[in-house]
Amino acid sequence: MRTAWLIGLGLLIGILGSISVIGAWRQRTPLPAAVMTVMQFHLGQLQDALKQNRCNAVDSARPLQRLRQAADDVEPAFAGAAGDFFAHATRLREQIDRGITATAADCATLGRTLRSIGQACDACHQQYR
Ligand code: HEC
Repeated sequence: MRTAWLIGLGLLIGILGSISVIGAWRQRTPLPAAVMTVMQFHLGQLQDALKQNRCNAVDSARPLQRLRQAADDVEPAFAGAAGDFFAHATRLREQIDRGITATAADCATLGRTLRSIGQACDACHQQYR
């Protein structure tokens, strides 16, 4: 009788343990950090281009578009975020869109674009990171 009880208790502890592990795994997916890393990568490419004086619309277009597309994934990646988190994401996309429209054809324009995008990143990080 006592053995059966202990076996039952062992099973219960095992089941409860695996439920909490699965729960933690679901909550902590790599997607949020991955979206950020991808944005950082494309922003970094633009910053490198600026440093090397490669400021033309053709070279800037692709990383700007890729940054814009990654920024679209902030909402699904951070689903359930509260406060004005998503307003920050919207503001970031507005800054990227402005940069795309400005077609960074010279280093002064690209520099301005990267500064305002960087400020949009920082604004959210200061509050939520
Ligand atoms: C809407 C809010 C928001 C915006 C806008 C935002 N971030 Fe983030 N970022 C976060 C949060 C929250 C974290 C912490 C994520 C985590 O720990 O899972 C983070 C983390 C990061 C990280 C660290 C990722 C890691 O390896 O853990 C990098 C790099 C990053 N952000 C880059 C950027 C860049 C570049 C931009 C702008 C192009 C940007 N972020 C815009 C909210 C934001």
